[in-house]
Amino acid sequence: MTDHLPEEISPAGRDARALTDALRHRNPVVHNVRDEWVLLRHADVKAAALDDATFSSAVSAHLQIPNGLDGDEHTRFRAALDPFLTPEAIAPAEPLFAALAARLASELPRGDAIDAVDEIGAVFAVRAQSAWLGWPAELEDPLVAWVSANHAASRAGDRDRLAAVAAEFDALIESVLAPRRGPGGEVLGDDLTSALMRVEVDGRPLRHEEIVSVLRNWTGGDLGSIALCVGVLLHDLASQPDLQRRLRAGVGDAELDAAIDELLRIDDPFVSNRRVTTCPVTMSGVDIPAGAKVKLHWTSANRDEAVFGDPDGFDPVGHAADNLVYGIGRHVCPGRTLATVELRIAVRALLEATSWIDRGEDHPVREVHPVGGWAAVPVILT
Ligand code: HEM
Repeated sequence: MTDHLPEEISPAGRDARALTDALRHRNPVVHNVRDEWVLLRHADVKAAALDDATFSSAVSAHLQIPNGLDGDEHTRFRAALDPFLTPEAIAPAEPLFAALAARLASELPRGDAIDAVDEIGAVFAVRAQSAWLGWPAELEDPLVAWVSANHAASRAGDRDRLAAVAAEFDALIESVLAPRRGPGGEVLGDDLTSALMRVEVDGRPLRHEEIVSVLRNWTGGDLGSIALCVGVLLHDLASQPDLQRRLRAGVGDAELDAAIDELLRIDDPFVSNRRVTTCPVTMSGVDIPAGAKVKLHWTSANRDEAVFGDPDGFDPVGHAADNLVYGIGRHVCPGRTLATVELRIAVRALLEATSWIDRGEDHPVREVHPVGGWAAVPVILT
């Protein structure tokens, strides 16, 4: 979910939106100092995501299930894993999420500035995901700390720190898996994590490292995304009183979901995903060789004036079909329903438990690429 653009066009302090808004029309395919080809236009990002034969997802030496798989193998893993993430599978967790959100909203201090990203978004994301996966409450604090450490390491672009943070996360996952393994290797328990450990692909159970990879993809990246999304949404509510009044007036789930998707389109904190070309290809007139590292820049594509007109124009219905916040094509986000439900429940609980959400005195702090969204959003609940 990160992106790097050349130093000379990305001075410190520039956020991914400002940077790519300025570049997109004159330099739609940026070849950066890391020898990556960054696609900035909606048409190119969409075409690359849909052409998974030319744009392979086998970008890493590390096992990435299902993100790093292509073709039939990807299809078989998605078929085995997607049932965990359908609306029907998520529905039983909704009352649990609502109770968690209501409790958090009632416990948050009133009248003092708090950070919407770390103190609301990350805490809610970790509690909701832990409840969904059946993970123990003792893991919540280490997971919240992990989200912050992961953002800090991504922001710094420090590979050693990122590797250390990834190893920490694997250790957390191992602490969840170990107690679910019986003496003969049988899987114990009946929660979602145990059910995942029983999944079979091609008639064989998932290997240990495959289970770890799936859980890393379900939680590691996504805890951070939900926290950043909550930051974006609360920033928008606090700084756009008309929007807040409209949403407070009581909108249905579909309307609230559409508004949230559109706010995230305007400021998409899930910046980019990687691909590698399997053959030479031309995008927006730029020739990209075979074997090239490519980035699909969702944040930029979602603000492309060729598709959306004014990138900041709020039109939930009109823009829905072109919204790329959750991707498109064979790798389209399988967690979309879960994310949508969590974000809707969090926003609703905060609106219901308060009479107003205001900006704090301190300015919000913009994330700088490679991370998107806001690093900190001071808000005051009354
Ligand atoms: C607001 C939060 C989220 C955003 C913005 C988001 C966005 C995305 C995007 C853009 C992709 C496409 C990646 C690509 O084409 O390479 C993706 C893939 C994925 N997402 Fe999400 N996601 C979110 C939450 C979640 C959640 C909650 C889960 C699971 C519990 C999840 C699991 C995944 C997985 C496993 C993939 C890889 C799918 C594949 O490669 O087939 N995401 N997500």
